[in-house]
Amino acid sequence: MGFTLCGITVVNIERGNPWKALGERPLIAASLLACDFARVGQDIDRVIAGGADVVHVDVMDGHFVTNLSMGPPVVASIRKYTDHPLDVHIMVTDPAYYIERFADAGADSITFHVEAAPEPMKLIDRLHDLGLGAGVSVRPVTGAEALAAVAEAVDLVLVMTVEPGYGGQAFMTDMLDKIRAVRAMLRSDQRLEVDGGIDATTAARCAEAGADVFVAGSSIFGSPDVGEAIGGLRHSAEVARNTVS
Ligand code: DX5
Ligand code: ZN
Repeated sequence: MGFTLCGITVVNIERGNPWKALGERPLIAASLLACDFARVGQDIDRVIAGGADVVHVDVMDGHFVTNLSMGPPVVASIRKYTDHPLDVHIMVTDPAYYIERFADAGADSITFHVEAAPEPMKLIDRLHDLGLGAGVSVRPVTGAEALAAVAEAVDLVLVMTVEPGYGGQAFMTDMLDKIRAVRAMLRSDQRLEVDGGIDATTAARCAEAGADVFVAGSSIFGSPDVGEAIGGLRHSAEVARNTVS
């Protein structure tokens, strides 16, 4: 798709809901929370060159979680820098307000927390009207049953495998049962993302339980070779998935 302007072909990059276009293989989402924010562009280049399928952006409002992170202007700058899919995870008390701001900033998919959404279907419909991927997340204390009314409508469910708010925490093994329960609620064309304490070992356990999108910050950016770290995550997930199926 494109058009010609003064003899130059301009290619329109298709933006928006990325999940179907990414196929069915396990996906690696590199979380910028663990990058060097003085060099965010270079770090984005490194993870894309290393094979990350999507860039995961953690938004924290200092209220839904105690930490603060990035706002819409940062996402708008990242959007100008890269055409890679932006998977924006909003840990905020007012998702209805911020969905509009992050859609304007250039997010391709937005995942909000069910605990912060009294009317989650409205937000899912709004995201789809905007042409974006729609994800819903649960913190560790929230059971899979909280997703019953919305599971059918979303592109992705994000099961937090640490308490949201900070990178570098230890994976919560007792989330594996929830991952299994959520997978049982989803169709095969819907994604199940895990986030928090994900490395090659925990990715394999989550893949066995039914996860197929793996968010990783520390294990990617903390590695001397981000490509090797991303490849290791993908390999573990693929081996575990093939063992189960
Ligand atoms: C935590 C964030 C995560 C975080 C994961 O609230 O949602 O995306 O970056 O960091 P690691 O991979 O270090 O556990
Ligand atoms: Zn996240």
